[in-house]
Amino acid sequence: MSAHDVIEVITTKRDRGTLSDSQIDWVVDAYTQGQVADEQMSALAMAILLNGMERAEIARWTAAMIASGERMDFSSLSRPTSDKHSTGGVGDKITLPLAPLVAACGVAVPQLSGRGLGHTGGTLDKLESIPGWRAALSNAEMLAQLESVGAVICAAGDGLAPADKKLYALRDVTGTVEAIPLIASSIMSKKIAEGTGALVLDVKVGSGAFMKTAERARELAETMVALGTDAGVRTVALLTDMATPLGLTAGNAIEVQESVDVLAGGGPADVVELTLALAREMLQAAGRDDVDPADKLADGSAMDVWRAMIAAQGGDPDAALPVARERHVVTAPTSGVLTRLDAMAVGLAAWRLGAGRARKEDPVQAGAGVVWHARPGDRVEAGAPLFTLLTDTPERFDRALAALEGGYDVGDAATYTPAPLVIDRIA
Ligand code: URA
Repeated sequence: MSAHDVIEVITTKRDRGTLSDSQIDWVVDAYTQGQVADEQMSALAMAILLNGMERAEIARWTAAMIASGERMDFSSLSRPTSDKHSTGGVGDKITLPLAPLVAACGVAVPQLSGRGLGHTGGTLDKLESIPGWRAALSNAEMLAQLESVGAVICAAGDGLAPADKKLYALRDVTGTVEAIPLIASSIMSKKIAEGTGALVLDVKVGSGAFMKTAERARELAETMVALGTDAGVRTVALLTDMATPLGLTAGNAIEVQESVDVLAGGGPADVVELTLALAREMLQAAGRDDVDPADKLADGSAMDVWRAMIAAQGGDPDAALPVARERHVVTAPTSGVLTRLDAMAVGLAAWRLGAGRARKEDPVQAGAGVVWHARPGDRVEAGAPLFTLLTDTPERFDRALAALEGGYDVGDAATYTPAPLVIDRIA
């Protein structure tokens, strides 16, 4: 005899009721064990999307997902831990320079990352373009690397929040990804189970993000900050712009190269600005705001940690990165100022060129992607290169070009209004 009847749980939420702690514990566990069927959990997820959840329900749902698997423990490390999570954007390679930078400042970064799905890239896909680099580490290897190098970026093991793995795959195919209670509990269950002491959330806002408006992004950020704080993780969120893609590249190997440029003291100004802003938050949350991360970029110590981090996972930091076999250049239609560059258009183009995947099991092309040669506010000349499209499979160019169409404007300097990169801070 089970503690609850699944129909009663579904209809409670369908009729705008509040789920009890015991209903939540039971349904999450029974779904993970295979006693609640996918179609029943789909109905419940849709009822949650339509009718929402109260804060207490979200906290209990998160706790139930954490309890479905193991919890990692970094308390034996000689330094504090701090992690960052981005809700996903186009050209968002910030984890790559950020993890070694924060480690160079004396705070360990245990970064469990994912692969890309849809128009936003995945950190593991980017790093896998480095010859030899491997994403899978055992918990013991992760702990040892955190002690010796200070930073790890690897795949989350199967033992971490298995309920989320199953539920996220189901949400992906049932139109229920966008529910704030489900996004917040999905992200935070993994981060709390991961065992980080402090967490900085980069919640993206704009066309290239999950959250298209600042209001929805703020609601998601507040929900996640409350979940983290209640679980004893010092949690802060920045709301950052994702109407425009980050940096000058969206793809895999080309984003690794841009990250290495940042670690070498160069790189696009917006990538440097966001990397430093997030590093300062991570250090402050870990009690180390006495160190200025800008110094560690300038003196090469962040680059030293990057090289050690890549080598520790089998990668060769000196190896040439893969290059796409084919390229197609798009030139500026007129002279003027680039007044708009749409993140969704660029993300879709990179995805269609082969940088991303349509299904979880699809491979990605390491060399594929989009390079843009100007950022909003920059002057462009008629006929000069504006985008370079890269792929191994040139039959993809037409659909990528279609994605870019209408995705940018060249106009008068007077019609350009710069937008701030960091929109708000929620603590
Ligand atoms: N990322 C996650 O891990 N979970 C979600 O639900 C959405 C984005």
